Amino acid sequence: MEIIIKNDAESGSNAAARAIAKLVRENPNAVLGMATGSTPLNLYNELIRMHQEEGLDFSSVTTFNLDEYIGLSKDHEQSYHRFMWDNLFHHININPDNVHIPDGMATDIPAACSAYEKAIVQAGGIDIQVLGIGSDGHVGFNEPTSSFASRTRIKTLTRQTVADNARFFEGDESQVPRHCITMGIGTIMNARMNLMLAFGEGKSEAVAAMVEGPVSSIVPASILQHHPTAKIFIDEAAATKLRLADYYRWTYEGKPEWQQDA
Ligand code: PGA
Repeated sequence: MEIIIKNDAESGSNAAARAIAKLVRENPNAVLGMATGSTPLNLYNELIRMHQEEGLDFSSVTTFNLDEYIGLSKDHEQSYHRFMWDNLFHHININPDNVHIPDGMATDIPAACSAYEKAIVQAGGIDIQVLGIGSDGHVGFNEPTSSFASRTRIKTLTRQTVADNARFFEGDESQVPRHCITMGIGTIMNARMNLMLAFGEGKSEAVAAMVEGPVSSIVPASILQHHPTAKIFIDEAAATKLRLADYYRWTYEGKPEWQQDA
């Protein structure tokens, strides 16, 4: 794991955006895994800026989103379809045919999940997966005790996640869907690079458990310790519970220039 501690969410997000831009410039047919929630908003704003001001070209890029609520239509205000189009896709030159987001209204959910897995394989696998972490340590919507071998499937949200996400549903927990479709942990681990973003004091415990705790399905994101290319972008507030924070800063500051892709 590479732990990149930046002063604030904006500079952490900009560093992650640079890693994505580098890939897209080198490989216009790159396959990106996308995430939703509050965390990636700065990252998406920076990618939009790079598209508009620097001509970053997404016309041949393919995307796969991590997850979607079950029971929300694509145009529901809180669906992750809507989130992605509102916050990124409408503002860049992505080809809509290349966008993949799990279908929360699928009538045959197991079939839709296995088709999603097949589509990822057919696209050549995910080059860079963007991730966030839940305050309960989830990654995607893989809640605690999710199998590390899991693939795209239905999951039940924890009460903690429902409470955390109620802010998007006017604070009303009863409006938050209980079920979702999420890429599995096995799916995420197949990505060639994982970029995890976590900002704010509220994420500090989950970040410490992910980075320095034991690898355990009770903290699903801790599996990233086993990923060969996982970069963790955090701000100072999210870094407060890391025992080796000084070491991570020292390592990042001392990186040879040719390695500084983020
Ligand atoms: P957040 O969610 O970005 O809204 O904090 C992250 C997550 O639940 O994975």
